[in-house]
Amino acid sequence: MTESINTQELELKIPQHVAVIMDGNGRWAQQRGKTRVVGHKSGVDSVRSTVTYARKLGVKALTLFAFSSENWQRPQAEVSVLMELFMLVLNREVKRLHKNDIRFQVIGDVSRFSSKLQDKINTAEALTEHNTGMVLSIAANYGGRWDIANAAKILASQVADNSIKLEEITEKSLHTHTCLSNLPELDLLIRTGGDHRISNFLLWQAAYAELYFTETLWPDFDEAQFKDAIIDFTMRERRFGKTGEQVKLNE
Ligand code: IPE
Ligand code: IPE
Ligand code: MG
Repeated sequence: MTESINTQELELKIPQHVAVIMDGNGRWAQQRGKTRVVGHKSGVDSVRSTVTYARKLGVKALTLFAFSSENWQRPQAEVSVLMELFMLVLNREVKRLHKNDIRFQVIGDVSRFSSKLQDKINTAEALTEHNTGMVLSIAANYGGRWDIANAAKILASQVADNSIKLEEITEKSLHTHTCLSNLPELDLLIRTGGDHRISNFLLWQAAYAELYFTETLWPDFDEAQFKDAIIDFTMRERRFGKTGEQVKLNE
């Protein structure tokens, strides 16, 4: 499949915004007789290669689901390790991101994280604020429903203090208060690990995203796997409600 597409054609259709539900770390480790934590640690290498490849391809925004608002329900020991790992990765990788002109941001309710972790996040965001090569958003304590409810709350408070009228609550104004509204629309949503669900990820933003599911467990997701997903995306016809004929006429 890879050979049949020339690189020029690929470049033309590169998705501007890709998001990934990085799933399957636990099963990857269990298959090897290791603890789930080992899988999370291995998953960090896949994060690094995915970021590098996205940047190389010219993807403008990459959004990675690292920890959902539901993941607090996991055993306390696993949650603690995930928090430590997040801290470790921030310490280790932010300089590299900065060097590669990548802007880093976290989306989600960070108020539940330790103040030390919040400080690290703020420092990384500030350091990389003016980078323009790509935006890397890490979704941590993120939930799609939280995101929409939060935007609704902001608009409601603006109505309450008379700074906007009720009629000004529109899809567009709500959109501006959801996470990632400053980025290109989500084009491609990848989920590794074989499950076909969204798990409360970018519910609002995924309205017209192309969905790509792979059985590959996250620690095995490498550059070649990512390329397969991109090639699959380039072959989709995105109709946005129109007919196939209308779309072809506009090409
Ligand atoms: C995804 O892998 C990582 C996080 C949710 C933090 P999992 O830990 O969900 O791995 P599986 O799905 O149990 O294999
Ligand atoms: C989704 O994976 C969250 C992340 C990848 C961070 P889960 O493993 O938590 O999803 P469910 O619980 O199987 O739906
Ligand atoms: Mg999982």
